[in-house]
Amino acid sequence: MPQKVGLLRHVMRELIRQRIQTVLPEVIDLRHELHTHPEIRFEETWTSEFICGVLDAWGIPYQRGLAKGTGIVATIEGGAGRTIALRSDIDGLEIAEATNLPYASRIPERMHACGHDGHMAALLGVARVLLDFRDTLAGSVRLLFQPGEEQGGGARYMIADGALDGVDAIFGMHGWPQLEAGKIAVKSGSLMASADFFRINIQGKGCHGADPASGIDPVLVAAHITTALQAVVSREIDPRKPAVVSVAHIDAGSTTNIIPDTALIEGTIRSFDAETDAMLREAIERIACGTAKTFRASAEVAFGEKPYPALVNDQAMTQMLIRTASEAIGEDNVVIIEEPAMVAEDFACYLEEVPGAFFFLGMADAPGQPYPTLHSPYYDFNDKALPTGIATMAELALRFIENKMSVR
Ligand code: NI
Repeated sequence: MPQKVGLLRHVMRELIRQRIQTVLPEVIDLRHELHTHPEIRFEETWTSEFICGVLDAWGIPYQRGLAKGTGIVATIEGGAGRTIALRSDIDGLEIAEATNLPYASRIPERMHACGHDGHMAALLGVARVLLDFRDTLAGSVRLLFQPGEEQGGGARYMIADGALDGVDAIFGMHGWPQLEAGKIAVKSGSLMASADFFRINIQGKGCHGADPASGIDPVLVAAHITTALQAVVSREIDPRKPAVVSVAHIDAGSTTNIIPDTALIEGTIRSFDAETDAMLREAIERIACGTAKTFRASAEVAFGEKPYPALVNDQAMTQMLIRTASEAIGEDNVVIIEEPAMVAEDFACYLEEVPGAFFFLGMADAPGQPYPTLHSPYYDFNDKALPTGIATMAELALRFIENKMSVR
């Protein structure tokens, strides 16, 4: 019997491969259209409408209006078996596009600089391919189009609105410029860091720049706090545990001869476990307040209300992903990475609810060839990666819910 299952999987794979080639030109067109209309977190009304239009045209039922209004859950309903969810983010960024592409953003200061247009197109491609196998599906495939991944925490709103109800496993992916197109990369366990921001408001006492003794200089305090914060990771965190504290924004004063009243420091913290995260927060607050007090100023420290947790891939689901992708796109094209990335993803929130795995999809045109980084004004999701993403996701879905053909 295993031989028969293997043969049927091989036949299915060939059918999927052919189907992907047939739908690819349409999927690329969809991607370019989406790229032209980037919208930021929870403002994705055009995008949401566009996706619904495509689903309508293909006869795929969906529920819309999730996650503050622009989220969509579409379902390819098969038998009464297991349900797998596949997720794409749908938001763009506040960046002015500099690619000069014919399908570059038509909206000023808005850009799909993180490639979510490619994620959407790939997921629509998966939907189009799986639609042809609907009658043979033993379970269902749920397609999550999630708004507000960039600093919006849209995943939490999707979950609150029931996107994961009845879901047995979830998978997602993100374009990855460091890896070449045609490949995917994944790791079991921690894949991406938790992310939180901190904001330090320093209260000094403004005065004339020529008479500093009559005031309390918050600029000097901000400089000392920034320097002292460098000791948090290097002196207080176990060196075997990755962590980051980065001051990314300082704001104070307005001209050359006035010492201002206040100063602001903002930055980001990253780690891979709740204990380290708590230590970072405690240290930042202690050092900021203590340093301010040393210089007769005061400081107030705030953190994000809903930080992104670390993204932890389920071991069994990662193994299934590796096996399936090795068959779908070739063993040599599945890269097992050793070290997690310090960037964050709110896909982590889904993985706190149901088992699943997240993987990186290669974007570079050739091995080692530089590709614009994520969030760069030159970034454009590589269309060459679409077949790899679609094949991996489509086969994952079929493998997870098991196809009636292969279990008959
Ligand atoms: Ni992104």
